[in-house]
Amino acid sequence: MKNFIIIVAAGSGTRMQAETPKQFLNINELPVLIHTINRIYEFRNTLSIILVLPASHIDYWKSMIRKYNFNIPHQITAGGATRYHSVKNGLKLIDQDGLVAIHDGVRPLVSKDTLQRVFLKAESDGNAIPAIRITDSLRRITPDNSLPVDRESLRIIQTPQCFQSEIIQMAYKQEYRENFTDDASLVENLGIKINLVEGNPENIKITRPSDLKFAEAFLK
Ligand code: C5P
Repeated sequence: MKNFIIIVAAGSGTRMQAETPKQFLNINELPVLIHTINRIYEFRNTLSIILVLPASHIDYWKSMIRKYNFNIPHQITAGGATRYHSVKNGLKLIDQDGLVAIHDGVRPLVSKDTLQRVFLKAESDGNAIPAIRITDSLRRITPDNSLPVDRESLRIIQTPQCFQSEIIQMAYKQEYRENFTDDASLVENLGIKINLVEGNPENIKITRPSDLKFAEAFLK
């Protein structure tokens, strides 16, 4: 059985207040995306890597590959208007049955343990997504007040999210909806139960400038 990982990195990253999309910004002198792919390759060097990039940045990525002598094998395809459309494009390159993990290119701090848990559980039970507990207090905003929320019943969901290929292909045959915020929400809409495994707290989605600083410190 061949196993795949689709790395979606076709966002434009407008919240970073930078010209360059965040997946191409440097952490300790290496682009975020190279850190992410290195992590995955260190976990398992036999995974088939599919990288989804903005059509406008494919040549830019190829110049980075040369600049950093990056030689981890991967296939490249262009993304779409939303994450959903980018994943859908990546899925077109899956040519065999197996497990398919989908990971945000802007999560370079995913741990080997998280990757291992996600792949093992998906292998035995069909799918798995990483989740972590919330340590902050939460409040729900109401029209004229705010109310405390029970954090024990909530989880933060991360990537990679991993599925058997037939299931994820079927899920992405559904039309785009705004409330499909991750891959699991599409699979769940088919009536399939989603399995949670433990994520790792550092596995943040690099979104704001302070996230880059955190990643820099963590990777040092
Ligand atoms: O925008 P957001 O932070 O939710 O993006 C999560 C991941 O999805 C990022 O790695 C981003 O590059 C990717 N993405 C994509 N295509 C889009 C939008 C986001 O591949 N059109």
